[in-house]
Amino acid sequence: MPSASELADLDVTLTARYDFAKCVALAAAERGMAYYARRRSLIVEHKGGDMQDVVSIADQDVETFIRGELAAHFPEDGIVGEEGGSGGLQARCIWVIDPIDGTACFLNGLHNWCVSIGLLVDGEPLLGAIADPNHDELFHGFIGHGAFVNDTPLKAHDAVHVREGLVGVGTTHRAGKEHFLPFLSGLLDEGGMFVRNGSGALMTAYVAAGRLIGYYETHLKSWDCLAGLVLVREAGGRQNDFLRGDGLLGGNPYLVAAPGVYAQLAALVGPSLDAE
Ligand code: IPD
Ligand code: CA
Ligand code: CA
Repeated sequence: MPSASELADLDVTLTARYDFAKCVALAAAERGMAYYARRRSLIVEHKGGDMQDVVSIADQDVETFIRGELAAHFPEDGIVGEEGGSGGLQARCIWVIDPIDGTACFLNGLHNWCVSIGLLVDGEPLLGAIADPNHDELFHGFIGHGAFVNDTPLKAHDAVHVREGLVGVGTTHRAGKEHFLPFLSGLLDEGGMFVRNGSGALMTAYVAAGRLIGYYETHLKSWDCLAGLVLVREAGGRQNDFLRGDGLLGGNPYLVAAPGVYAQLAALVGPSLDAE
């Protein structure tokens, strides 16, 4: 974590980056909406032979747009993006972007998708913006300055037991999926209940907003959750050490939750949560 004086030095430029992240997320989401309106005409490709891992020109074009804005305003910053890969990782400021999180929903006409833009400074998630154009919601946060949906402050749920609310869940066909059904089974045994909406970024934002009491994904990528991690921290939630090891580029198991149920959910996930 950068020291307070280092952060103060950075503050002016970070405020500019925060404003930028919010503006670009909204503009990118509007661009995504234009594609969403004509989604049936888009050619769908599959990544890595996984029929469920879909992508279209919409993802690529929206990421190209965000990268163009970044290059114009902050050419010295690094970037990790789902579609275009990573570069400039020696920089202090690294943008971590998912142009469309929830692509399977997007292409199937389900409204659970968003644009997610987060910023790491010296390896720490410091600000983020998640734009959901279908619900006119912009989630945003800046460490030390709060987290909001539009202008409303976010606060994690005050549950102290998993039976008191809903837990977001997710998995993919990547390694780690074997932990999914045991987690669901344990959650149900405790009187809990789950939802999967298909967008890790939105489920993370919903934990920050207190709509979900937690969200567990067997293996997530940094672009799915970097912006959301800022929101959860500022809203008083807890998170596992997601960025450990090769988390930034390779991903890790992922848990975010309200403070009163984090330990209970982490116990239900078991040792795989923070295994190297
Ligand atoms: C996916 C979504 C989904 C999660 C997957 C992610 P994408 O991102 O966040 O909820 O279960 O792990 O890959 O492919 O829609 O950007
Ligand atoms: Ca994603
Ligand atoms: Ca994506």
